[in-house]
Amino acid sequence: MTSRKLREQFLKFFEKKRHKIVPPISLIPTDPSVLFTTAGMQQFKPYYLVEKSPYGQNVCSCQKCFRTSDIEEVGDESHLTFLEMLGNFSFGGYFKKEAISWAYEFIFKELKLPLKETIFTVFEGDKDVPEDEESVEIWKELGVHKNKIKKCGRADNFWGPTGQEGPCGPTTEIHIKGIEVWNLVFNEYYQDKNKQLTPLVQKGVDTGMGLERLAMIVQNKSSVFETDLFESIIGELQKYTGRTPANLKGGRIIADHVKSAVFLISDGILPSNVEKGYVLRRILRRAIRYGKLLNLPANFLILLAQKVIEIYKNVYPEIKSKEEEILTVIQQEEEKFERTLHEGLKQFENISKKGNISGVDAFHLYDTYGFPLELTIELAKERNLNIDQKGFEEAFKKHQEISRAGVESKFGGVGKEVTYETTKLHTATHLLQAALRKILGEHVKQMGSDITSQRLRFDFSHHQKMTENEIKKVQSLVNQKIKEDLEVKKEEMNYKAAIKSGALALGKEDKSSFSPSFPFRGNSVFKEKYPEIVTVFLIEDFSKEICAGPHIKRTSELGLFKIIKEESSGAGVRRIQAILE
Ligand code: ALA
Repeated sequence: MTSRKLREQFLKFFEKKRHKIVPPISLIPTDPSVLFTTAGMQQFKPYYLVEKSPYGQNVCSCQKCFRTSDIEEVGDESHLTFLEMLGNFSFGGYFKKEAISWAYEFIFKELKLPLKETIFTVFEGDKDVPEDEESVEIWKELGVHKNKIKKCGRADNFWGPTGQEGPCGPTTEIHIKGIEVWNLVFNEYYQDKNKQLTPLVQKGVDTGMGLERLAMIVQNKSSVFETDLFESIIGELQKYTGRTPANLKGGRIIADHVKSAVFLISDGILPSNVEKGYVLRRILRRAIRYGKLLNLPANFLILLAQKVIEIYKNVYPEIKSKEEEILTVIQQEEEKFERTLHEGLKQFENISKKGNISGVDAFHLYDTYGFPLELTIELAKERNLNIDQKGFEEAFKKHQEISRAGVESKFGGVGKEVTYETTKLHTATHLLQAALRKILGEHVKQMGSDITSQRLRFDFSHHQKMTENEIKKVQSLVNQKIKEDLEVKKEEMNYKAAIKSGALALGKEDKSSFSPSFPFRGNSVFKEKYPEIVTVFLIEDFSKEICAGPHIKRTSELGLFKIIKEESSGAGVRRIQAILE
């Protein structure tokens, strides 16, 4: 039976049991507590609580899901980052008896899968949640022998919540030929942010069955990668790699990651250095890296993405309508990563001349050039060098702490994620302000600043449009300071002493020059009040600013600075947008 038929048959089965078929949601959920749609119940989460379901009490769906929780296991016979989840749900309607009976009917009567090779798991109970005896009894009533029913603990037979809080409960699972095929969750509790469980007012059912795994069993294959949901992708790969076992894992990882990338892009995600875009970038780069290990041709991702599109374009309209965009984005990312790898290799050569690789250097390669630790390890091995992996982990942790502190410091992009890209742009903003003051005059003062992972935006006091020549001069002065590879130093100082010494600050001092028409933004940095002791960032004698940071260590890390726009931003205020390349 084809996967297409399986999807339809599942939905029809539950429609006959008076479930409303609900279309899938995007991989980008509206729920801000999760990054991606990871389960069929995601769109129904509020209906387990107080909100009334607009679709009625019982629904079913085939939901596309993306989860990175199993990424290390991708490559075996059944784990994936992208999957389609078939599910039936009830919000205060039916409960264990119906859910279990229908699952039994669908699997063993409709699809006629072998009961002989099936086992059933149920929750064994712990100090907070009692053993699920009811499910055991229901399976037995259906004719399942007690030897086939296994009791397991929290890790296996308790599910949820998604995100930091939400409905959750004990589960019972159907495993066929050793593969977990269907998970039936009985939502009986609400877990809060402190992991405390409270019984729900109304009980709910949430089931999930991976279409790929079901297809694997129904089509009698030994892995999901041999089903019709992967066959042509793997086939394309094998044109280049052959079928040797050593290639198997890498090929499967590539196939899985390309598929996820196609779906993520079709839902509007673009590779970037933050949040969802970062995850997309990571899986694309991981696929490219495995492609290199298997000596695949340069454009292999596109060839595989085309296969993915063929498989799904008649099922998901967003895949069909975005076909071109998907291919373009993948191609651009592949080219970009090529350049990064190239630069990173050069950097690696420099670093490795010093001998063994320090944790900080390994982290620098990871953070700046996207070198996964394993790649640095492989390269080091070739040269008989060691890597301080513990040092790498420490550098990683430190970076995370700095990022958090950066977010909490409320400077600049308030509440935005601080990454290496935004940190670089932050330092570039200091260079820009100093350059503007040198070229246009000391009347230039910061009126606003906003940094995203892609660009900086800087508003400053100046009464006329900048000329082409001035823009060019400012840009090349910043680039000159980048080339000079200046150290960015950090000093703690008394606030008054800092101002006296000429350090630039925001706040009261600047307000005098504000134009009343300047549009204040909600999280304006001008409201910042300075404590007695402040941090000052100095870039030799070129720039000196009071700032909470974070900043990079040396200006050469910035690369190439480019002003992309100069425009008005209110009376007497100009706005510059700039990027780093
Ligand atoms: N929500 C459950 C799962 O994702 C069914 O496994």
